[in-house]
Amino acid sequence: MKQAIRVGVTGGAGQICYSLLYRLASGEVFPVDQPIILHILEIPEALPALRGVVMELEDCAFPLLAGVVTGSDPHKVFEDIDYALLVGAKPRGKGMERADLLEQNAKIFVEQGKALKGNHKVKVLVVGNPANTNALVLYHNAKNVPAENIRSMMRLDQNRAITQLAQKARVSVKSVKKVAIYGNHSSTMVPDYDNALIGGKSAREVIDDLDWLRGDFIKTVQERGAEVIKARGLSSAASAANAAIASIKDWIYETPVGDWYVAGVYSRGNPYHIQDDLFFSFPLIGGDIVPHLKVDNFLEHKIKESEEELIKERDAVRRWL
Ligand code: NAD
Ligand code: LMR
Repeated sequence: MKQAIRVGVTGGAGQICYSLLYRLASGEVFPVDQPIILHILEIPEALPALRGVVMELEDCAFPLLAGVVTGSDPHKVFEDIDYALLVGAKPRGKGMERADLLEQNAKIFVEQGKALKGNHKVKVLVVGNPANTNALVLYHNAKNVPAENIRSMMRLDQNRAITQLAQKARVSVKSVKKVAIYGNHSSTMVPDYDNALIGGKSAREVIDDLDWLRGDFIKTVQERGAEVIKARGLSSAASAANAAIASIKDWIYETPVGDWYVAGVYSRGNPYHIQDDLFFSFPLIGGDIVPHLKVDNFLEHKIKESEEELIKERDAVRRWL
């Protein structure tokens, strides 16, 4: 039997984890026959509820689940972990922007960053909002965790954009490739209609409706999270867990030929001239940012707006960096 890998997950008693933990434990993410040990962090008040979640994990009798560690001290729970899926944070409610969570949630990422300090191998995916700036706070506090080992989740936005394009073109989502999202996981994010392909052809040509691409398409993707909150009374959870699973797979497996994926990565020395020291969403192949993509002036202007928003968010958390 292979040696187990240790997967840290925070917010174990929350909505996203009620889907995410079972999918991780089922073995669908890591290579075949790879046993995993889950290290689940929760705040003390939520540990009784987490006990129920763990009972259910046990009751699934997952053959590859080799153990579960739980607790509320990140320094203990994160010991020797290979992955950290940082989900635990407050979600926004109706009428809020994700940046309204900066004050409350940034502190979580200061503490968790410190707990990861010195772990050179861990790959960290930040899901808790505002994900990009939380990732920045984590990076500055997790000394010795290399910048390339930290990402913020943008995959849900990519999936949303893929579905919008597929529905508009009346094709399967399988026909839609090379959908990039730039910027912040916020209402300024920029879905790229210029480089996307539908059935191997330019999405812009296939859809042939620039007003829709610049209007409803972008707006729907930017505001989808808020629409889900309006409809469900709670933020997206199953689709977020699904995107977290996809983000880890994107990271550890080869990118399919003819496609790319997106994640928020540390912007130092990027080919798009985005300011250094931000977690910014770019299209990636393997671990590398796809260089030289051209977008029209409309998108270029929007990318700048998202960069400006991230700079403002960084200013707001300066004392924690
Ligand atoms: P939730 O409120 O259902 O669960 C969050 C859990 O985190 C709670 O159980 C809470 O006790 C726990 N928690 C809070 N502080 C913690 C800490 N310091 N350490 C460990 N656990 C802690 O929320 P949810 O729906 O699961 O969403 C979690 C986060 O993910 C929110 O910030 C939400 O906005 C964000 N989110 C991000 C994306 C994305 O695309 N990046 C998508 C969906 C949701
Ligand atoms: C989402 O995009 O669904 C999440 O970030 C939750 C939210 O606040 O919108």
